[in-house]
Amino acid sequence: MTLEIFDLAPLPIFNADYEKPFPEAVLEFRTRLAQANALLIATPEYNSSISGALKNAIDWASRSPQQPLNGKPVAMIGASTGNSGTLRAQLHLRQILTHVGALPLGKPEVLVARAEQVFDADGNLIDEAARGFLRYLLTALAGWIQRVSPV
Ligand SMILES: Cc1cc2nc3c(=O)[nH]c(=O)nc-3n(C[C@H](O)[C@H](O)[C@H](O)COP(=O)(O)O)c2cc1C
Repeated sequence: MTLEIFDLAPLPIFNADYEKPFPEAVLEFRTRLAQANALLIATPEYNSSISGALKNAIDWASRSPQQPLNGKPVAMIGASTGNSGTLRAQLHLRQILTHVGALPLGKPEVLVARAEQVFDADGNLIDEAARGFLRYLLTALAGWIQRVSPV
């Protein structure tokens, strides 16, 4: 499995007045989504939900004509400094993804709580339990891709 990171920062705030044509950054995002076999979303939790930046990106991806999230296998992971480790954010995300026709992986759920304790100063995940859950999730995602969109 090869993972490519996509930075959401260049995406403008969604505005239906400016989607014909899509801005260049949005076109790039939609193309990369369409080309991917699956999507892995890593999210913090902001005020009991996902970040505005992630919701904005999903809103751009949901627009016609191609709707690149429709039928796309998706897995999610999250880390937060709180005790619930993005549980509420991931529940919201699951609801939104289902609405846009994506196919979220059911389990495992990777919820990393008290994130300040499981990463080192360089941002490496150093907690063995969390690393194990991550491995389990990536293996499950590979199986999910084969099951829902075999190539
Ligand atoms: C505006 C804002 C709201 C947040 N709300 C929550 C929350 O509801 N639950 C939670 O567990 N963490 C919350 N956090 C903490 C973040 O999920 C995250 O752990 C923190 O921003 C550190 O992550 P970072 O180093 O990627 O920024 C919030 C952070 C910000 C900036």
